[in-house]
Order: sequence, then structure tokens, then C-alpha cells
Amino acid sequence: MSVETLTEDWTCAFSGQFADDFRQLVRTLPLDKLERIPPPKNAGLPFGHELRIARRLLTGGSSMLDQSGLSRIYLACTAERVRRLYQGLALGESLPLAGWRDMLGHEATASWIERGLLEPDPGDGFRCRFRLIVLGPLRFVVDHFGFSGGNRVHIGGDSLNMTEFLQRRVTDTGGAMLDVGTGSGLQLLSLSQRRDLGLGVDINPRAVRVASLNVKLNKAANCRIEERDAFDPAWTPERFRLVTWNLPFMFFPDDEVAANVDGHGGHLGIALTLRFVERLVDLLAPEGVAWLLTSAPVMLDGTNRLEVELAERTRRCGLEISTFVLQKYWDRRHAQFHRSHQIRSFESVMVRIQPGPGGFQRHPPNAVGRSVDWLRTILNER
Ligand SMILES: C[S@@+](CC[C@H](N)C(=O)[O-])C[C@H]1O[C@@H](n2cnc3c(N)ncnc32)[C@H](O)[C@@H]1O
Repeated sequence: MSVETLTEDWTCAFSGQFADDFRQLVRTLPLDKLERIPPPKNAGLPFGHELRIARRLLTGGSSMLDQSGLSRIYLACTAERVRRLYQGLALGESLPLAGWRDMLGHEATASWIERGLLEPDPGDGFRCRFRLIVLGPLRFVVDHFGFSGGNRVHIGGDSLNMTEFLQRRVTDTGGAMLDVGTGSGLQLLSLSQRRDLGLGVDINPRAVRVASLNVKLNKAANCRIEERDAFDPAWTPERFRLVTWNLPFMFFPDDEVAANVDGHGGHLGIALTLRFVERLVDLLAPEGVAWLLTSAPVMLDGTNRLEVELAERTRRCGLEISTFVLQKYWDRRHAQFHRSHQIRSFESVMVRIQPGPGGFQRHPPNAVGRSVDWLRTILNER
């Protein structure tokens, strides 16, 4: 592999003995405590998800994706070695060479530099080119916040919300699972632990490299990753008991689509979701279930376009479909563009799909969720 490839894209660095040594080292680093430390809140309101973070601190769970105005305080209360690991591997801050050597050892530091995983900083330190996220026993290597190349692979707040939602709801652990648009492999690795097979597919070759790395890092021998377009008509796999996809569901103006391929969900943000619902007819086993995370545009006249379209497909495709509304949201940056398409707001939703005679059901948020949505509506529509 040429030095140029290695330095251009860190995801190309993992081959041969280096890949084995890398995974072994990451497995032995004391990363467990990292998940309690939230990253800093850099924009918007001065406080972040403080209650959720405090709850996770007390009851368990990872706060590595919840921004906090108190991040510095959490960090200050942490042992020096854990703090350095967090700054270097989770936040991507520059550390002096001696700091890296102390954490990783001399030999590993040298090989990480040689493979382009650590790059010299304009100061005299080195910066890590990937980010490590810890979720319970699982470790994920992903792109950094600041990654500006195309085809970014990251884990966002939505990804984690989906994982937590499904861990509560998916109780059947048998049969084969398909995770479409697997990205880092987060949904796949979280939900396939006791299954015969977990297959992750992604159209993005960088995601395929990253998910393959994470599958091996987490020793998930039942999982494999394939580069593929989920809509490829020539792909006719065995049917699956569980299908998941955290879909691209944003609605971008034409000139922003190319830079947001992992987030753009097509017209109104729902075109891709609707297309995939029809594709599921070929992918789901008779007793199978699919869970999709997507978004529903609520129009100025109050209609929910996703629900209207899903209800129409239930009979035609022979599917039982339920939506579980998580929360309302607004995309302020594109407010004018969305208004020009008659969109008032969006709902973030989990959609459950099963083969059946055809039926549609909506599950609204609970009383607390409705109160929060009501307050946010007042603040957003002022
Ligand atoms: C919102 S990301 C979800 C990533 C990851 N599953 C998670 O939960 O963090 C959507 C993913 O879908 C992938 N994708 C988009 N279109 C696809 C297609 N036609 N076939 C397969 N994957 C696709 C993107 O490359 C991206 O990785």
C-alpha cells in the first residue's frame, strides 16, 4: 500500500500485522471509564443533555455522544491517565509525543505515526485521525468531528437513540439480521450478539472499511460486512428475521445533496424510506420484523406525509406498519427551503414493519415527550 493512500485516508491503514497489533492494543487500553465523560458543548445553548448525562452516570450507559456544558468539570474529576486517553482518542486533541508514548508505548506510537493514524500538529504535538467511542462492552473507531473529506463515517446522537430504543424492544435474538447502511456497524454489533448471522451492508466503501475494522475489534465472529447498494435488484439474499436501517432522512436543497449523501433522504426527506419499505418485501422472512429510523415531514395543513404514504403501502405491499414518534424537530438552517415545500416541522420516528394483511398504527410520544414537544414548538415557531 502506498504511503500516499495511508496519509490520505486513515481507513486504509489497517492491513497485515499492523491491523492485528492495532486491535490488540485498543482492546487492552483502559477505555471503560471514557463512556461517562460527555464531549463539550461548543455551539447553541450553554447547557446540553445534562439530565440524561447525570442519569447515565448513575445508572450506566454511554454519554460520549451527549454534548455537555459541564464537560470540563467531568473531565477534571477524572484520573489523569483516563483524561489523557479521552482528550487524545475521543476528542482528537493534540498531545505531545511523550504523552502518546506513555499511553500506547514507543513501538505502537511509531507505527501509528508511520501508518498515518497520528499526524503532526502545527504545534509540537500529534493528533489522532480517528475517534474512539465506547458503548458498554463495545468499542467503535469512527471519523473525527472535523472530518471534511466525502463519505464521512460517524456515530451521531440519532444512532445512539436508535440503538437504545431497539435494545428495549427487540427481544427475539434468533435467526439472521441485516443492518442496511451500517456505517460504523453500531446497530449491527449492538443487536446481533446472539444471532446466527449479522450482515452489515453499506454503499460507502469507507463505511465498509470502518465497519469491518469494528467487527474485528469487537471479535464479532458471526458478523460480516459487504459493500452494496441495498436497492441493487441483482442482490437476492436469504430472507432476514431482523432488518434495521438508520436511514438518511434530511431534506437538502439540490446544491447541498452531493456533500450530504449519508444524510439526504430524497424528496421531503422520505423518498428513500418509502423506496426501502417496498424493497423490504424481498428481504423480510415471513416472521421477520424491520425497524427503521427516519423522519416525517408535517405539512403546513397538518398532514403527516410519511404516514399518508406508509398507510397507502400497507395493503399494496402486504405489510403491518407502526410508527413510534420520538420527538419533533426543526432544521433551522433550511427553514425557508422547507417552507417553500409546505413543510412546517418534522417528527423523528421509529417505524416497525412486518409482513401481514395490511394495517397502520401511530404511537404518539408519551405525556412527558408531548409536553417537551409543546414547549419546543412555542420556542421554535415564535
Ligand atoms: C444515517 S447513516 C447510518 C449509519 C449507522 N447505521 C448508524 O446508525 O450510525 C446512513 C447510512 O446509509 C448508507 N446508505 C445510503 N444509501 C444506501 C444504499 N442505497 N445502500 C446501502 N447503504 C446506503 C450511508 O452510506 C450511511 O452509512
